[in-house]
Amino acid sequence: MPYQVIIPAAGQGKRMGAGKNKLLLKLEATPILIHTLKVFEADPECLGIILAIHPDDEQEFKSLLNEYGIHKVSSLVTGGKERQDSVYNGLLAVSSLDGIVLVHDAARPFIKVETIHKLVDAAGKDGGAIVAVPVKDTIKKAANNQVAETVERSSLWSVQTPQAFRASILLEAHNKAARDQFIGTDESSLVERIPHPVSIIEGDYDNIKLTTPEDLYFAEAILRKRKE
Ligand code: CTP
Ligand code: MG
Repeated sequence: MPYQVIIPAAGQGKRMGAGKNKLLLKLEATPILIHTLKVFEADPECLGIILAIHPDDEQEFKSLLNEYGIHKVSSLVTGGKERQDSVYNGLLAVSSLDGIVLVHDAARPFIKVETIHKLVDAAGKDGGAIVAVPVKDTIKKAANNQVAETVERSSLWSVQTPQAFRASILLEAHNKAARDQFIGTDESSLVERIPHPVSIIEGDYDNIKLTTPEDLYFAEAILRKRKE
């Protein structure tokens, strides 16, 4: 099933502490940004990539797209202050509101195409779907470093991107969030408020988001493993 993808890439990578956008850091000689884009470039179901970028990165990103032969970027949009603003700017560039739109963080380079296809099919049926994995740790609620409660784990999921929606539903969710001045940490939290149901597709634990420096070690290990 065909889809368009919005890729927010306009962050500053502060927690990575590299002194520049973390997406420019290289894994096996290729920038993280390109690892992510290549997955969608290679997927025939992907109709186009809408990339949200920071104006300071524009020249460098454009030359990387050229250098690595990424041709599917149909729109380069300016990112906003929050990730949610960057996604919204991307949403305004989606060509058809009847189609399925994915949102996928540029900082998650290990997403598998099979997972993308399962997610798009679910969003085609239900209007909204997200990729998540069951929580492995025991989770506790606390106040002032005192345990208040152990949360029942069997119903908890650790949520990733991509997240997929009928574009009209995601736009409605963003418009409502803007009206209510609600800022969520993912797209689903906006869609849930419409309210509209969102289904879960079980993904992989290695679809990590590269956030802090130690994530780069995990990333190198994942790449090595995938070459075996
Ligand atoms: N992002 C974005 N626009 C923003 C903030 C984030 O497009 N205003 C993007 C990032 O580039 C990244 C994704 O959203 O691909 C997930 O965000 P995160 O991992 O938090 O990246 P950064 O915001 O860059 O990192 P930090 O929060 O540590 O500064
Ligand atoms: Mg951030």
